[in-house]
Amino acid sequence: MHDGDQIEIIHARHPVIEVFIDAPFVPNSVYLNNSTDRLLIITGPNMGGKSTVLRQTALICILAQMGSFVPAESAKLPLLDRVWTRVGASDDLARGRSTFMVEMTETAAILHSATPRSLVLLDEIGRGTATFDGLSIAWAVAEYLHDSPEHSAKTLFATHYHELTELAERLPGAQNYQITATEREGEVVFLHRLERGRTSKSYGIEVARLAGMPPAALGRAREVLQRLERYELDVFAEEQTKVASTRALAVGSSAPSETDDAALRSVATSAGRRRLAAQSSLFDLANQRVVDELRDAKVDEISGDEAKRLLQELRAKLL
Ligand SMILES: Nc1ncnc2c1ncn2[C@@H]1O[C@H](COP(=O)(O)OP(=O)(O)OP(=O)(O)O)[C@@H](O)[C@H]1O
Ligand SMILES: [Mg+2]
Repeated sequence: MHDGDQIEIIHARHPVIEVFIDAPFVPNSVYLNNSTDRLLIITGPNMGGKSTVLRQTALICILAQMGSFVPAESAKLPLLDRVWTRVGASDDLARGRSTFMVEMTETAAILHSATPRSLVLLDEIGRGTATFDGLSIAWAVAEYLHDSPEHSAKTLFATHYHELTELAERLPGAQNYQITATEREGEVVFLHRLERGRTSKSYGIEVARLAGMPPAALGRAREVLQRLERYELDVFAEEQTKVASTRALAVGSSAPSETDDAALRSVATSAGRRRLAAQSSLFDLANQRVVDELRDAKVDEISGDEAKRLLQELRAKLL
């Protein structure tokens, strides 16, 4: 323990998970301080180990402050005034608080009360509402904890919003970390290793398969994902050229707010276009069924009345 601001844990482990899992536990090192590394944005696949890294870091800090041994090769730790956490989904319906309301109440408490001597764990903030609201809240919360002089706590932020990695590239005290996974013979292999950098793959459907989702639902999910991704690629290629030109413009400017605006604008446009793309291709997908039905209709064999009824039915199904 020391009086400084650095958390440096080499080869940390989670003492409980390590006992319960069959596979060997993969130790990970974590570094935080109050200047260059005060906000770590952690991305990576579902089941990768993001939540585990968050919790083991907090556990180690608490154990050390109690005077205990810690599950790590070595650890240099500062005195913390508090560990704040926002993890998991829960509700409190009897007291009038929905799942998202609980999440926001806890987040508000953190933003009001965390100090530079605190450690904050945010596990997937903003998932309980519409994508855009959630992303905006996650973005603002990360920025607030990074920027606010009284509340800039050391923060570990696990997220599936890959847009937030853009924020980490822009903020001087933020760093991108990823949990790695690889593919072998068509199956995802979780390496559980924490490294610098950012990832964009979630392997959500793979994890749904491992969880025993019926093959029909899985097949359909893959089909929908493929269409969404194909559409997104088109949009993204177009977007890249725009981002490049915005960046080139921003290099020449010294006003930070202009660069901020440019970063936010580029994320917003690409996310917005992707949302529109997702919506329109989902509509395409639903309408495709109407087209298929029309193609299969035995038009030569049906009467005028039947044809009329068929048309009305098909029109009702159109989105
Ligand atoms: N370092 C590790 N070594 C070995 N196994 C690990 C490690 N970290 C996580 N695991 C295993 O992976 C499981 C999932 O980890 P965790 O919940 O942290 O993933 P996650 O990235 O938060 O996933 P999600 O995005 O779905 O929340 C753990 O229950 C554990 O069995
Ligand atoms: Mg998790």
